[in-house]
Amino acid sequence: MATRAAKSSAKLGPTGRPERFYPVPPKLDRHGPARIISMCNQKGGVGKTTTTINLGAALARYGRRVLAVDFDPQGALSAGLGVAAHDVPTIYDLMLGKVKDPVEVIQPSTTEGLDVIPANIDLSAAEVHLVSEVAREQILAGVLRKVADRYDVILIDCQPSLGLLTVNALTASHGVLIPLACEYFALRGVALLIETVEKVRDRLNPSLELDGIIATMYDPRTLHAREVLERVVATFDEKVLDTVINRTVKLPDASVAAKPILDYAPENAASEAYLQLARELVLRGTVA
Ligand SMILES: Nc1ncnc2c1ncn2[C@@H]1O[C@H](COP(=O)(O)OP(=O)(O)O)[C@@H](O)[C@H]1O
Ligand SMILES: [Mg+2]
Repeated sequence: MATRAAKSSAKLGPTGRPERFYPVPPKLDRHGPARIISMCNQKGGVGKTTTTINLGAALARYGRRVLAVDFDPQGALSAGLGVAAHDVPTIYDLMLGKVKDPVEVIQPSTTEGLDVIPANIDLSAAEVHLVSEVAREQILAGVLRKVADRYDVILIDCQPSLGLLTVNALTASHGVLIPLACEYFALRGVALLIETVEKVRDRLNPSLELDGIIATMYDPRTLHAREVLERVVATFDEKVLDTVINRTVKLPDASVAAKPILDYAPENAASEAYLQLARELVLRGTVA
């Protein structure tokens, strides 16, 4: 009874858990080696790219050195951060060994502390080229190993598929974050995704962890979104992060403006949501 009373007096967050306080993370006095995290969901349009950009910018705001890797031939991450992706060396050139040193490919974004490895449509040919390579699943891991010491976090923005590129991302990673849009069929496909993560862990990367599930595009005014989120929490429990990203047109607007939301609309609730996500991940030990 006492717990029930305590529960009802505490303000509950969208996940139904009591709201918690996430302190501003202490400054790091040294940097690296990076923890590498794949932003992964084979469903398109769930917020992978938006979360990579804005979580990356939020972690950079807290003094973390962040490298965002565009690993989708659509190049939305590169576009959303305003970095050149055409007529410049890209992740494709690194994957194929045409460029050996990632430093030649890395570009600074307009956010201090946030760098980018861009991608463009060339990357769509990579799977075909890599199929016959020795250790074809480990190529991205080899590329990122060369620069891991320079960063605290490397975020890989995966394409919406579970093909060889995504397996490369998972093989290169310490952890996986899964953005889930609070919409019909959000859970469809997640079992297959988690199975893929487990297969990569068993066969290629024994230390791979499922770091968490991030509910995105949440509209607290609709019963439907609340029901979806309730089901997600019932299914994945503690894996679901407390921080939920609400639906707001400011996020697509910021992408069009090629800026993180923190620069485009610092007063918008989505800016605070991504800052809180960064603080929660530091507190959970997911990132330094
Ligand atoms: N919280 C949000 N609210 C509203 N729109 C969003 C939100 N997050 C992402 N979007 C928009 O939804 C679309 C898909 O998001 P995106 O991050 O590109 O997904 P993915 O990378 O998984 O395909 C984009 O136009 C993006 O701007
Ligand atoms: Mg994307």
